Amino acid sequence: MATNSFGNIFRITTFGESHGKAIGVVIDGCPAGLELSDDEINAALALRAPGNSPFTSKRKEPDVGEILSGVFEGKTTGSPICFLIRNQDHNSAHYEPIKDLVRPGHANSTYIQKYGVFDYRGGGRASARETACRVAAGAVAKKVLAHYCVSITACLKQPTEDQLTHVMAEGDSLGGIIEFVAEGLPCGLGDPVYEKLEANLACAMLSLPATKGFEIDAGFSCVSMKGSEHNKLPSGTLGGISTGKPLIGRVACKPTSSIKIPQATTTLEGKPATFVLPEGSRHDPCVAIRAVPVVEAMAALVLVDALLLNRCVRL
Ligand SMILES: Cc1cc2nc3c(=O)[nH]c(=O)nc-3n(C[C@H](O)[C@H](O)[C@H](O)COP(=O)(O)O)c2cc1C
Repeated sequence: MATNSFGNIFRITTFGESHGKAIGVVIDGCPAGLELSDDEINAALALRAPGNSPFTSKRKEPDVGEILSGVFEGKTTGSPICFLIRNQDHNSAHYEPIKDLVRPGHANSTYIQKYGVFDYRGGGRASARETACRVAAGAVAKKVLAHYCVSITACLKQPTEDQLTHVMAEGDSLGGIIEFVAEGLPCGLGDPVYEKLEANLACAMLSLPATKGFEIDAGFSCVSMKGSEHNKLPSGTLGGISTGKPLIGRVACKPTSSIKIPQATTTLEGKPATFVLPEGSRHDPCVAIRAVPVVEAMAALVLVDALLLNRCVRL
């Protein structure tokens, strides 16, 4: 599994598994001189934790980490920043009854076919716990962006609270749409061919677990517009390069795969079986809720990288 890094200049590498000893991120390429503390990163992590909304599981999963390197007397030194989150003791027992079943909507069957091994307790690298590392790195990226007066905010556009209440009562789940807006971007970020800004944003968003679609500006709705209408819209990018106007993107998340309703499945050997979520498992009716800060972090990682690259583009 060779691909655990993301970015060119501001480059992150994440490591660890959900039921291992720790997860973490190494950030390479963060400029020196940025004020940075554990508390700032931990505050960002708290926004991703479950229990922040009536529609996320009440389970306590305190993600608190520490900076191990790259910061001296409260400021970044320019050397790699390592941020480590030690995993709490997890009770892995409730995964036992389902360890030989294909989990509908989850990655265990493809992992086993590809690698021949799968950490059935929490999904290993497939676990969305990995996104905590992206949020930690995103918090640093956002601080660099703030230095250049760039801000990013994301919110949940869909579903509504009513829809969530209904689906939760049924033990089922819903997909969702997260929208982010980046403001204060200078004109000129992104390259015109393989590193188009929207292409890198799409790659970032679709690298997240459960994401199935990405659009920018008018997105898919542009197909039913006329050129005369579409040309009048403000565009965050043109030719893959930021225009200086607010950049708006939307990310579609699939419905949470782990639901309380029994589902037809097979054993890993292909025999028919029924999948029932083990007693005590968490049930989040919509993963998009917890993905909001993660989308914000990924947008920050793409934009900080483009911004730093742009500083060496011409004399
Ligand atoms: C922040 C976040 C939290 C998630 N939490 C859950 C969860 O509680 N239950 C679940 O079934 N899937 C959850 N997922 C999605 C699964 O990790 C994902 O669907 C699964 O690994 C399969 O990957 P794929 O959907 O990209 O194919 C979450 C995703 C994110 C981004």
